[in-house]
Amino acid sequence: MNNADQIWMNGEFVAWEDAKVHVLTHALHYGTSVFEGVRAYDTTKGTAVFRHEDHIRRLEESAKLYYMDLPFSREQIREATLESISRSGFSSCYIRPLVFRGHGPMGLDPEDNPVEVSIAVFEWGAYLGDEGKQHGIRAKVSSWRRISPQSLVPHSKAGGQYLNSVLAKIESKRGGYEEAILLDERGMVCEGSGENIFVVKDGKIATPPQTASILDGISRKSIIEIAADHGREIVERDIARAELTLADEVFMVGTAAELVPVREIDDIAIGEPGEVTRELQSAYEDALHGRTPAYEKWLDVVPGKDPAGMPDLSSAVPSKA
Ligand SMILES: Cc1ncc(COP(=O)(O)O)c(C=O)c1O
Repeated sequence: MNNADQIWMNGEFVAWEDAKVHVLTHALHYGTSVFEGVRAYDTTKGTAVFRHEDHIRRLEESAKLYYMDLPFSREQIREATLESISRSGFSSCYIRPLVFRGHGPMGLDPEDNPVEVSIAVFEWGAYLGDEGKQHGIRAKVSSWRRISPQSLVPHSKAGGQYLNSVLAKIESKRGGYEEAILLDERGMVCEGSGENIFVVKDGKIATPPQTASILDGISRKSIIEIAADHGREIVERDIARAELTLADEVFMVGTAAELVPVREIDDIAIGEPGEVTRELQSAYEDALHGRTPAYEKWLDVVPGKDPAGMPDLSSAVPSKA
């Protein structure tokens, strides 16, 4: 992992190695954090953050669901992120904004603990591997069910909630699979440990609805829009477990993984990525890289890093080798 030299923390840039917290940080003990996973791409317009405003809005909403007020405005977080990318010199990178309850009183009531914010940027390749993006991954339905709205908040991208994904991920990896698919409490298909899921049967695309306890994925929303623009029939509906293995095509989407075909589930072959998966994967890649005018609305260009010759701040703070 190649990281930037600096991390934005609570309003100022600090050296990467100095971005530290106290061991009694509330979030370390009780999982009281919310975060985002965002990507910036090298696009036809220069380096640009994909669906930046949507990610910052979800960060604020995730925090709200856990009674945290962001101490910075959405615009301040946006500017800090753009500046972080500029300073890093990266033409494409992963961005990890984190909002967490800091050092203060111990105990479960976090309301007197400060709400702290950090933004880190680093280079990170395809989360499930380039081979997986090309030929598809092997997945296993997890023995763990996705967190339920009866005990947690699936709509919030909250740190503590990811223990659920971590258990599913470890189980699938130790079982020899690349990813886990979690069912919801009713036994309906929910999502991957860090991706939303789509199935294709007879040319029709389906993906679980919000009521299936999914994270309201931003890549998911993009794929729904792109598929509709391509004239594909796409519905949000409950998906039974058997529909996974009986599908013609299955794919997963997420910011870290991007669009990844699934070629095998529970040791039953689905096959090499099919026509719909390939079409959407390529259209999505085009959108991410600014190659489709209709989706330029999703790009937040990093000032000073567009190809029109604006000053490039990367020379001021060189990235680490
Ligand atoms: C549990 C879970 N579901 C779905 C997603 C996909 O969301 P997005 O497309 O916004 O990255 C993620 C990734 O953030 C995730 O962690």
